[in-house]
Amino acid sequence: MVDLLAQYEKVQKEIDEAVLGVIRSSAYINGPEVKGFQDELEAYLGAKHVIPCANGTDALQIAMMALGLQPGDEVITASFTYVATAEVIALLQLKPVLIEVNPHTFNLDPEAVRKAITSKTKAIVPVHLFGQCADMGAIMEISRQYGVYIIEDTAQAIGADYHFNDGTKSKAGTIGHFGCTSFFPSKNLGCYGDGGALYTNIDDLAQKAREIANHGQTKRYYHDRIGVNSRLDSIQAAILRIKLRQLDSYIAARQKVAVAYDAAFSDFPGLEIPVRDPKSTHVFHQYTLKSMGIDRFALQEYLASKNVPSMVYYPVPVHLQKAYRSEQYKEGDFPITENLCERVISLPMHTELSSEQLDLIIEEVKNFFSKNYKA
Ligand SMILES: Cc1ncc(COP(=O)(O)O)c(C=O)c1O
Repeated sequence: MVDLLAQYEKVQKEIDEAVLGVIRSSAYINGPEVKGFQDELEAYLGAKHVIPCANGTDALQIAMMALGLQPGDEVITASFTYVATAEVIALLQLKPVLIEVNPHTFNLDPEAVRKAITSKTKAIVPVHLFGQCADMGAIMEISRQYGVYIIEDTAQAIGADYHFNDGTKSKAGTIGHFGCTSFFPSKNLGCYGDGGALYTNIDDLAQKAREIANHGQTKRYYHDRIGVNSRLDSIQAAILRIKLRQLDSYIAARQKVAVAYDAAFSDFPGLEIPVRDPKSTHVFHQYTLKSMGIDRFALQEYLASKNVPSMVYYPVPVHLQKAYRSEQYKEGDFPITENLCERVISLPMHTELSSEQLDLIIEEVKNFFSKNYKA
């Protein structure tokens, strides 16, 4: 699905020097590379504060802790997401309130959000799934109306722009009270291990999150609040500084691949190409098609036999996962989400796809459909 080695080879000299530089400096934890990356990411995003941490899941957890959410508080998010979003809500003994997504954009449906609001709702977590922003204009309106916090899960959408009705735009993750991202290696901005960050424009939330990420410490060995140990390694920060300079070109390469897939599949019976929301740019963390009239797992097997990888993100929605099933939810509760889980398939998407590879992928998908599609 990705070719991280080929991507590394293009910046190998710089990365090798930077990694060795950290080793030689012995500033392994919270060294100047971490501060340098933080400043550069703030400038890229136009965010007042970036708080680096150990991974995207921790970023979500730290955001919820910094907002002071208490056991029993309700947090609304999509059932069609990576489990991490719901996991931290449950881990903090908050109540995940799962809802439907828009069937076209795969993102949180603002109308479903409104219906799910109760007096116990304290936060909403829009997930910018597959690389384009949820309807943040509508979601921020709900936030103002009901006084609830917004934590953007922007693990898959770093670099995407959201366009507001007034003509202004903001980077994904910089609109709500917090944005939370992941630098997992396969992400659009990935390091060579785990990494993550929170963004916020609110000074006191930034201060709290920074303390929580470092054992609740205000100054060395003084702990004013309960925290966690969640730091971005200096080596990862050094790698990310180099890759951040490439991020816009990485996004452009992904968008080019998406245009080629669109051209191949836009009028193709049995496949629906990803819908672009006019309010957001799409940074194509994933290129996800909706299939019909075929056995999707047979397509995957066929593609694998031709050395073409594919993935199903996600085969089971959160509300039907064993760990999250409760009296609250049963099969059939979220027909849009359940239908998407039965139909979606993602094709290889990365910065190093050659036109030969793209041609092969497209040809093999078409070959499978020509033999197996039933209208
Ligand atoms: C939507 C979403 N949220 C959260 C995460 C968690 O990030 P991490 O794997 O860095 O903990 C991921 C990444 O895997 C993700 O895709």
